[in-house]
Parts: sequence; C-alpha cells; structure tokens
Amino acid sequence: MRIGIVGATGAVGKEILKILDNRKFPISELKLFASKKSLGKRITFKKNRYKLNLISKKNLENLDIVFFAAGSKLSKIYAPICEKLGSYVIDNSSAFRLNKDIPLIVPEINSGAIKKTKRKIIANPNCTTIISLMGIKPIDNSNKIVRVVATSFQSVSGAGNSGIDELIHNTRFYKNEDKIRKNVFDKNITFNVIPKIGNFLDNGFTEEEMKLHNESRKILDNKDISFSATTVRVPVMRSHSISLNIEFKKSFNINKIKNEIKKFPGIDISDNIKKNQYPTPLDSTNKDNCIIGRIRKDFTKKNAISAWIVGDQIRKGAALNAVQIAELLVM
Ligand SMILES: NC(=O)c1ccc[n+]([C@@H]2O[C@H](COP(=O)([O-])OP(=O)(O)OC[C@H]3O[C@@H](n4cnc5c(N)ncnc54)[C@H](OP(=O)(O)O)[C@@H]3O)[C@@H](O)[C@H]2O)c1
Repeated sequence: MRIGIVGATGAVGKEILKILDNRKFPISELKLFASKKSLGKRITFKKNRYKLNLISKKNLENLDIVFFAAGSKLSKIYAPICEKLGSYVIDNSSAFRLNKDIPLIVPEINSGAIKKTKRKIIANPNCTTIISLMGIKPIDNSNKIVRVVATSFQSVSGAGNSGIDELIHNTRFYKNEDKIRKNVFDKNITFNVIPKIGNFLDNGFTEEEMKLHNESRKILDNKDISFSATTVRVPVMRSHSISLNIEFKKSFNINKIKNEIKKFPGIDISDNIKKNQYPTPLDSTNKDNCIIGRIRKDFTKKNAISAWIVGDQIRKGAALNAVQIAELLVM
C-alpha cells in the first residue's frame, strides 16, 4: 500500500509509524507530511530516511491510505480532497465523526459499519470514547446498559507534544510562578487537576464530555444509552483512566460480566482486591490492551456497577485503532 501520514512528527503520527512497523503493515511507498516548522527534518522508518512534505493537493496524489493526525482544520480541507483523488482517509480528528455517512469505527466493536458506506473517509473516535467503550461493550453484551456516569482522568499527551512539554516545563519551574505556562491548558497543570477539556457548551458540559455521549451512541448503534461525563486533565504523562458507573435495565450477575470481558479482544482484567490488584495509567502505557479493574456492585443503586478502566490513548485511543482500521481495509 502507498501510505501517507499527515502530522507525522506529532504524538499520534509518530505512534502510527511505530505501529505500522510493529504490525508489519504492507507498505510499498511512504509519504510523510508536517508543518513548515518541520521542513528539512528527516524521519527514520525501517532504516530508511524520509523527508517531510507540506500538504497540498499535488503532494497527496497516488496514495492508497492517508492517516490524518494534524487536527480537524486540516482534515476538513484535505480529507475530502484525498477522497476525490481515490485514497482512503483514516482521520484522527473530530471533523467527520458524527457525519451520518461516515463510519466511526472501533474494530473490536463495529468493524461491519465500514462495509455499509460508499465514502472513503473513516473516522477514528475520540480517545476517551475508545478506551471507555473497550470496557463498556463487553459489559453491554452481558447485560443491556441504559446509562453510564463517567469521570475521566486524561493525560497531558492527549493534547499532543505541546501538552507534554507544558507539564515538563511547569514541573521544572514549579517554584517560579513567573515561568509557569498556561498555553495549552487554562491553568497550571503541575500538581493540579483541570475539570475542563475542550470548550464549554451551552448545556454546561464540555465538547470532550459530549463526544463521549454522542460518539458512543453512534459506535454502539444504540440511542437508548446515555453517557453523563466529567472530563478532567491530570498531570499524568500518558494513558487515560476513566471511572465508570454503569446502570443496567435488568438485574445482573457480576461473574457473567467478568466472563464476557475475558472473552473480549483488546482488554485485560486486573481486579483482585485480596491481592491489592487494580490498574493504573502507567500499567497501560505503551500497551495495546486496555485494562479494567475495581469492578464492583454499586451498593447505593439497584442494577448498577462501578468500574475503572485505563488505556494508552496515543496507542489504542488513536494510532493503534487507526492502523487496525487500515488493516480492515487491506484485508
Ligand atoms: N494525542 C492524543 O492522545 C490524541 C488521541 C486521539 C486523537 N488525537 C487527534 O490526533 C490529531 C493529532 O494530535 P497529536 O496529539 O498528535 O498532536 P501534536 O502532537 O500536536 O501533532 C500535530 C501534528 O500536526 C502537524 N501539523 C500541524 N500543522 C500542520 C500543517 N499545516 N500541515 C501539516 N502538518 C501539520 C504537526 O507538524 P509539526 O511538528 O511540523 O508542527 C504535527 O506533526 C488531532 O486531531 C488530535 O485531536 C490525539
């Protein structure tokens, strides 16, 4: 396949390259794109050095699959151009996720939706949505869910390279208020947590919180399920965590739920309170699988459980999921 990566120097773009290599994706040609800032830099892939290109219609010609990982503005302009040029687009931004005719795919959950579309743009869901659903889907398979209350603990790399830089910088200069940066995050992210990701909307929720609700319903193809979220940025370098409270239509059997999770691909269970076992974001960092633990009956509510899930949001929350989608296209 002739592959393009837009945003190849970014947190997600670099991970896509790693995963294409790890999974031995069939590549005959590779074309990498970045901003003007990166012109002149080279990227090594399988011992070959690749130059970085600026994005233009001409430069996007003759590619089979183009991964977009450079934000929604660029995707909105260039993804339809790629589609017209005949290539598939796998888009990591939010630009097309809720378009009716564009599939929004988590391969373990709804790979079939790709076959139902004539479009060549495929959207990769929001990272918190993917990680949450990797736990929620098998639970829903075991017993129908009606409502989820989710609180996320999202790492700084979710905001890309500059989020990582801001946490490192502010931690280094934490005693020097004049040097604290608030460029990527509204408030100082070091030794703090920020309960706002994305802009506030009229309903009081944030964009990130509404993504979990809207995207999950599309992926699960279920309008009867609702997600009430609070999304929080935390000074963790990598991997998101989500605390879930899940309400079912009917009574449940917790062993049946755990068995259904064990059968599901891409998720591990780390849950043994006698052995003090539960997952943390560091446990999932650089791992393909999400990890779920703290699965417990909610003693305050009939037909409800609580759980805790972690996952590497650059990997399964973005790059791995995108490459898995590409594999579906190639197979
Ligand atoms: N980080 C995550 O955990 C995560 C998870 C899910 C989805 N996403 C989505 O994935 C996308 C990329 O995020 P990221 O975290 O990787 O961001 P990032 O680290 O800030 O990287 C942004 C990339 O876009 C490139 N870029 C910027 N302007 C460009 C232009 N005009 N032409 C070509 N390339 C341009 C940058 O190139 P330069 O280096 O030259 O500036 C860089 O390669 C975003 O849509 C984000 O919402 C991110």
